[in-house]
Amino acid sequence: MVLIHNKDRRGISNLEKVALVTGSSSGIGFETSVLLARNGFHTYSTVRNLEKSQALINVAKKDGLPLQVIELDVSSDKSVRDGVNSVLDENKRIDVIVNNAGYALVGAFEDLSMDEIKAQFETNFFGAIRVIQAVLPTMRDHKNGRIVNLSSMGGRIAIPLDSAYHGTKFALEGLSESLQYGVEPFGIKIILIEPGTIKSNFFNNLKMASKAQRPDSPYTQMMQKLNAGFSFILENAPPPVEVARVILKAVTSEHPELRYPIGDDATALLKAKRTMSDAEFGNLMKKQFLSQ
Ligand SMILES: NC(=O)c1ccc[n+]([C@@H]2O[C@H](COP(=O)([O-])OP(=O)(O)OC[C@H]3O[C@@H](n4cnc5c(N)ncnc54)[C@H](OP(=O)(O)O)[C@@H]3O)[C@@H](O)[C@H]2O)c1
Repeated sequence: MVLIHNKDRRGISNLEKVALVTGSSSGIGFETSVLLARNGFHTYSTVRNLEKSQALINVAKKDGLPLQVIELDVSSDKSVRDGVNSVLDENKRIDVIVNNAGYALVGAFEDLSMDEIKAQFETNFFGAIRVIQAVLPTMRDHKNGRIVNLSSMGGRIAIPLDSAYHGTKFALEGLSESLQYGVEPFGIKIILIEPGTIKSNFFNNLKMASKAQRPDSPYTQMMQKLNAGFSFILENAPPPVEVARVILKAVTSEHPELRYPIGDDATALLKAKRTMSDAEFGNLMKKQFLSQ
């Protein structure tokens, strides 16, 4: 493995840089943690449940990686504060954060309870906000930082029966786009990662809203069509390491882009969204996801 030793304007190499990744127990967070550590970042892989960290610890031990696992639940103010403070106590700096922790709440809007919607935002949207707020003052002091937010192609286009999830990702896009203007003068870059469908644990970890699971839901048939439309896309989806590679490229670039779409489906659907009318795009989505 070749280490990348990019020097930034302040002459700090990756070997001295500190990265914090949320949701590292599986999928994109796991692969990103390992890849950053392999490339010399002192990486804090955070998980909400330490019992799920053995695989990470094994890889780090086997390959002698500069990777430490700490507990951090993004939906808790205290857990984020404690996790970030423990990293700052040891290093006095955090150069890269990857706000990756997330899941999808699935079900027709009418089948979602307010508690389920709030929980979805607590993790996917407020979770990222908590971490950014905890780290930003230090990044500003050091005039250096990369804040990576795991959005999705679903932060710019919406599929049926997933309104709360898209709400969180559209919100993260708006927050990130606005935030970049304020922090750029302090040497901090905001990076939005927009994967299409990725073959991770994401689809096993989906939370089906409890009303959506009832056979008498008026949306049951639509839900079945959506599942059929998705299973085809999932078969050909790329693995999470492809997202990790893009994140590494973005955080080691002196001039990263604001947005990085990933995968053929993301590229094609984002292009269709740009070039089609809303009505044309809506027909395309209905054909893909609701016509089986
Ligand atoms: N896979 C896709 O198709 C896809 C596409 C676009 C965007 N994304 C985004 O990519 C990110 C990572 O997803 P993935 O595909 O890697 O899915 P994944 O394999 O299910 O990983 C999700 C991670 O988030 C963690 N997590 C959930 N809630 C948390 C909380 N409150 N605090 C801390 N960690 C929490 C999970 O921990 P536990 O193991 O404890 O549950 C897990 O480590 C998500 O933000 C997702 O929205 C995924």
